[in-house]
Amino acid sequence: MLELDDIYFTIQKGREDIHLLEQVNLRVPTGHFMAIVGPSGCGKSTLLKLIAGINQESAGSIFWNGRNLSEEGDLEHSEIGYVPQFSIAYDGLTVEENVENAVKLRVKTENRDELYDLTDKVLESAGLEAIRDRPVKVLSGGQKRRLSLALELVTDPVLLLCDEVTSGLDPKSEQEIVELMHELSRNEHRIVVNVTHSLANLDLYDSVLVLDTGRVVYHGPPRAIEHYFSVAKAEDVYPQLAKRKPEEWAGSWDKHRDSYYEGFPAKPSGDPDVSVSAETPGAAVQFFALFFRRWKIFFRDRGQLGLQIAILILFPILVVIFAPDGVEQVKRLSESLPGNLAEYEQERDAVTFNLNLGGIVSGLVMFQVILLTLMGSNNSAREIAGEREIFEKEKLGGVRPSAYLASKVAFLAVLVTIQSVWMAIFVESICDLPSDNQFAHTIFLLLVNGAMTAICLGISALARTADQASLLSIYLVGFQLPLSGAVLALPHLAGWLTRPFISAYWSWAGIMDVMQKDYLRYIKEVTDTWLAPMWLSLIVLLLHILVGLFIAYVGVKKPKWEN
Ligand SMILES: Nc1ncnc2c1ncn2[C@@H]1O[C@H](COP(=O)(O)OP(=O)(O)OP(=O)(O)O)[C@@H](O)[C@H]1O
Ligand SMILES: [Mg+2]
Repeated sequence: MLELDDIYFTIQKGREDIHLLEQVNLRVPTGHFMAIVGPSGCGKSTLLKLIAGINQESAGSIFWNGRNLSEEGDLEHSEIGYVPQFSIAYDGLTVEENVENAVKLRVKTENRDELYDLTDKVLESAGLEAIRDRPVKVLSGGQKRRLSLALELVTDPVLLLCDEVTSGLDPKSEQEIVELMHELSRNEHRIVVNVTHSLANLDLYDSVLVLDTGRVVYHGPPRAIEHYFSVAKAEDVYPQLAKRKPEEWAGSWDKHRDSYYEGFPAKPSGDPDVSVSAETPGAAVQFFALFFRRWKIFFRDRGQLGLQIAILILFPILVVIFAPDGVEQVKRLSESLPGNLAEYEQERDAVTFNLNLGGIVSGLVMFQVILLTLMGSNNSAREIAGEREIFEKEKLGGVRPSAYLASKVAFLAVLVTIQSVWMAIFVESICDLPSDNQFAHTIFLLLVNGAMTAICLGISALARTADQASLLSIYLVGFQLPLSGAVLALPHLAGWLTRPFISAYWSWAGIMDVMQKDYLRYIKEVTDTWLAPMWLSLIVLLLHILVGLFIAYVGVKKPKWEN
């Protein structure tokens, strides 16, 4: 039995309190199929989210089998299935892969067989067997809704909450989905609630709840609706509602409620504390499921894969072709550094030449660094923001934010390593930069790519949309070069204020510090910017990575529901 007792959901607008839900009282026995209907904006989704535990009620209590959820804790993740208005499946994966992944993330299974058996069972109960191998992107609207339902069935939830799973479907598909939900509710432990605009096809529901501006104005059998609202057919209820104020409708419902509820079976269902739903798997299991799923999606998405490969190959080439003369000079001059130049003329020429060389080496390194920051932002800007809705849904289903973030970090670490090491090897093999310590040089390239990837991951976790995250990340990369001070020195104070935040500067400075000492002299001559010592650059870049990851963690933990 689900009971709502004097529930309010109140938001503040300026100084005013606005009740989105007001004095909601209702009782739903288990084994029951309930519809929530009402005009657009009346609070249907708000009420559903409140029951799901996504929204917290401002006043009142919710009881599940006599247990006060507000005081004794919400239902377990596995006890609730919540099907939101948006699609929660990955387009690039097949129907079966989506269901299998949901099982891996949400149900503790003993072995592979159990995993496959459960997947089969869920596909069968949602009527998806015939299309199990199809990619989600080719499914029809009705098939997608079935899949959304299937994904929630993996834990065998006691409360299945569906938001508009039938909206936008043709009448036949709508009928089929309602029939499916009806079937799923024929289970003595379970309640199925469906929010819908549609006042047709109400016969299959055990009860219909009518909301008007946040108030319950009817909750009873579908066949009594016409009589209660004095209309000829159910479709006329909305125009009829408009004829009186919501509080008047709510007032008269208060008088009638008890007589309607007398007809409801009020049996407490068995032992209230027996949980029939599945157990959530551990963090490590979730991590591996998410990590392998990420790679699968990566390789299926031809566009993303092509872009990554193109960037990987082209960016290092860009570094060397932009400085063909420089490459020649670096090679020629590495033998003829000054030492015993006798003639003044010669000496002056050599100094000019070496200063020039210092500029080239510094510029080539900065170019390497900047392109890696661009790769970093491309790696992670959309990583979380692009799938935020699905992740919120998975979090509600018991996926731990830490496992999710760890899977992202592991995936991105592979990309960052390949990109940075390849950049270092390729450029070094052609330009022969006068680095004293090639290993340290590579590490600084890795760190700057890692720092930018981590910071953009943080942005991605905080952003409202993927586009917003992309834009912010691109700005961040755009500021790296001018604010690094490597091209033009910044005014003294501005330099000290901005430098701590510019990853590119620290990577560049770190690499300069491991250049051969003779070269370093000339590099210092051509750059007016302070050159930080290597150890400091190392610490700052590591801090950037940590800060980025911390922001990402805060971002993924924070609930972000759009609708
Ligand atoms: N967090 C919020 N802050 C401010 N207003 C909100 C919030 N959540 C919902 N609302 C408002 O509350 C009202 C009810 O929203 P809700 O989404 O529950 O409506 P609904 O009945 O599901 O509508 P629809 O049928 O269009 O989906 C709307 O006017 C909406 O703008
Ligand atoms: Mg809604």
